[in-house]
Amino acid sequence: MAIPNKPLGEIKAVRDPEVIEKEVDILIVGGGMAACGAAFEVKKWMSDDQSVLVVDKAAMDRSGAVAQGLSAINTYLGENLPDDYVRMVRNDLMGIVREDLIFDLGCHVDDSVHLFEEWGLPVWKKNEEGKNLDGKKGQKMGTLKSGAKPVRTGKWQIMINGESYKRIVSEAAKLAIGEDNILERVFIVDLLLDKNNDNQIAGAVGFSVRENKIYIIKCKTMMVACGGAVNIYQPRSVGEGKGRAWYPVWNAGSTYTMCMKVGAELTMMENRFTPARFKDGYGPVGAWFLLFKAKALNGLGESYVASDAAKAELEKYAPYGTAAITPTCLRNHLMLFEMKEGRGPIMMDTVSALAELGKSLDKKELKHLESEAWEDFLDMTCGQANLWCATNTLPEKKNSEVMPTEPYLLGSHSGCCGLWTSGPDYDWVPDSYKIKADNGKIYNRMTTVNGLFTAGDGVGGSGHKFSSGSHAEGRMAAKQMVRFANDHADFKPEIAQSSSDLVDMLYKPVRTFLDNCEYTTAVDINPNYVKPAGMALRLMKATHEYGAGTATFYQTTSKSLEIVMELLQVMREDCKKLAAGDLHELMRAWEINHRIWTVEAHLRHIQFRKETRYPGFYYQADYPGQDDANWFCFTNSKYDPKEAKWDVFKRDYVKIIPDK
Ligand code: FAD
Ligand code: ADX
Repeated sequence: MAIPNKPLGEIKAVRDPEVIEKEVDILIVGGGMAACGAAFEVKKWMSDDQSVLVVDKAAMDRSGAVAQGLSAINTYLGENLPDDYVRMVRNDLMGIVREDLIFDLGCHVDDSVHLFEEWGLPVWKKNEEGKNLDGKKGQKMGTLKSGAKPVRTGKWQIMINGESYKRIVSEAAKLAIGEDNILERVFIVDLLLDKNNDNQIAGAVGFSVRENKIYIIKCKTMMVACGGAVNIYQPRSVGEGKGRAWYPVWNAGSTYTMCMKVGAELTMMENRFTPARFKDGYGPVGAWFLLFKAKALNGLGESYVASDAAKAELEKYAPYGTAAITPTCLRNHLMLFEMKEGRGPIMMDTVSALAELGKSLDKKELKHLESEAWEDFLDMTCGQANLWCATNTLPEKKNSEVMPTEPYLLGSHSGCCGLWTSGPDYDWVPDSYKIKADNGKIYNRMTTVNGLFTAGDGVGGSGHKFSSGSHAEGRMAAKQMVRFANDHADFKPEIAQSSSDLVDMLYKPVRTFLDNCEYTTAVDINPNYVKPAGMALRLMKATHEYGAGTATFYQTTSKSLEIVMELLQVMREDCKKLAAGDLHELMRAWEINHRIWTVEAHLRHIQFRKETRYPGFYYQADYPGQDDANWFCFTNSKYDPKEAKWDVFKRDYVKIIPDK
């Protein structure tokens, strides 16, 4: 149920919160694209006596990565084949991907896009003369489903008027599942295993960020889709701009942390995304490169990607580097290469691009094109449009700087870290990609923990799902969860911890604060506790300097990794002293906890993989270049919750779709 906005100021935390216990068959944690997909789909397959609950830390209408809206849907197959979709993702992610998951997604993603349009999302269309029509004009051409042609930017991407994208998708989810089955503004902190079965999910525990209430929710099966991780590295923005990041600031690695802490296997956690973006405003580049056909120039005004030096660099990473579309990490690599050679900064040549497009347009059309350039930002990153205003930048008159950002972890955009999940139960899917549940059955998108599913940024080894693919994957997982719940109708989840143990654990930062806050006059400075904001700065400083952050041009070494690991252990110890005076701060305390675990997984994987598979995203200086002979495989890891031990290991890659 929606809770109204809070009054001015933060809500004070009390020592003893109210405890609310719930039990449902199916629990969906998160309220983003994947969770909305699951919420939309799930009731279609459930019987009347089954129950479901969605829990989002924020308000679903504007939560997650699509909160600000988007100007493109980056995965719409249309006339393309799922095989080619696999080839594109494989190439972009330097060869090692889960082709079963990608192919499966490619078969279903368009259905979600058709639904978005049915629900009211305006999709740009081509008219009979091949001209672009957006908004209402585009709608007159009919729907994609009825055969209307979208405005393609690249082979896979289509343009939308998407400022209200998330509202549209969440409205459909809410209508389908019913407001009574939704808890908003509840932050899930931990997953709970079954008392009688070490590897069976049985529930989750979290707290309201609006009321002093703790929720203990039992379930037979669960999907965790809390997005990826941001603010784990020092952002490029400083001072009052610091709240700005490319990735939505509220995704704190909860998906990876909560799942790994109950023993779910992770994959490719070394993979990260450092998107090249319009500098300081983090505006997206896709529409500029693909729709407006703009070129990136080096500081000397040269189109460096076509230079001999760039070609020689790319050849080192063949066959990916020499493919028709250069992988995202290598596009960054070329940018960094120019900067390090002293030929920075990198500029997006918006002036020439708009002039070139303008040649075939009349005055009115040109004006419309210019407004589209602004709308690209206003639809999804309005801060960039503000920055253009604030810096007197008219894109038709002044070029803008582009720069790779700080690193983020995610599995649905141009990255592929996440959980190791089961592929679908088809005969062409290798056995090594299928995870058998306790009953011997295979449930698509189930993690290695019985009954625990994920989707979107949560599923590892299969990037380039984007908003549409994450929604579709949520729907696929929902259907499997119902199957799991039906097959486990007799299972009665039991939780090992008592409710007072759980309250003590969740509200520890509040009690630490209340016990000690009167000791000093400055509430943030106290010998008996650490505030989450301070801990966040510590984490960022450590990863920035030692963990291949922007400070070192994304480079790390074995020694640096050793140092940062030690720093993380101390941070983890000090997290026991986190203090929270209000509910917002309590959320910050648990977010930083989640971030530290996720970062540890990321760096352990980088430490394990003795090569540099993704130059431009990160460089392990002791192991430069790719080493296919030893490392053409997945890097997986598992945390043992009983022994509190990590294990990082290799898993075989299987090529399913042949090269063309
Ligand atoms: P999200 O949609 O991010 O949802 C995560 C959800 O989990 C949120 O509801 C959040 O509130 C909730 N949550 C987090 N932690 C907790 C917790 N502990 N307890 C409870 N709830 C929690 N895709 C496109 O198709 N086109 C684009 O142009 C495009 N542009 C993008 C631009 C940016 C800046 C970003 C970051 C992504 C973009 N994407 C785009 C990708 C797309 O947004 C993602 O692929 C998609 O949103 C991932 O879905 P998800 O459900 O995994 O995560
Ligand atoms: S967005 O999601 O924040 O808009 P971005 O602008 O990087 O992401 O990219 C949108 C889409 O365009 C993605 O599918 C991405 O792979 C693709 N893309 C971006 N830049 C290029 C480029 N230079 N060449 C090919 N594809 C690109």
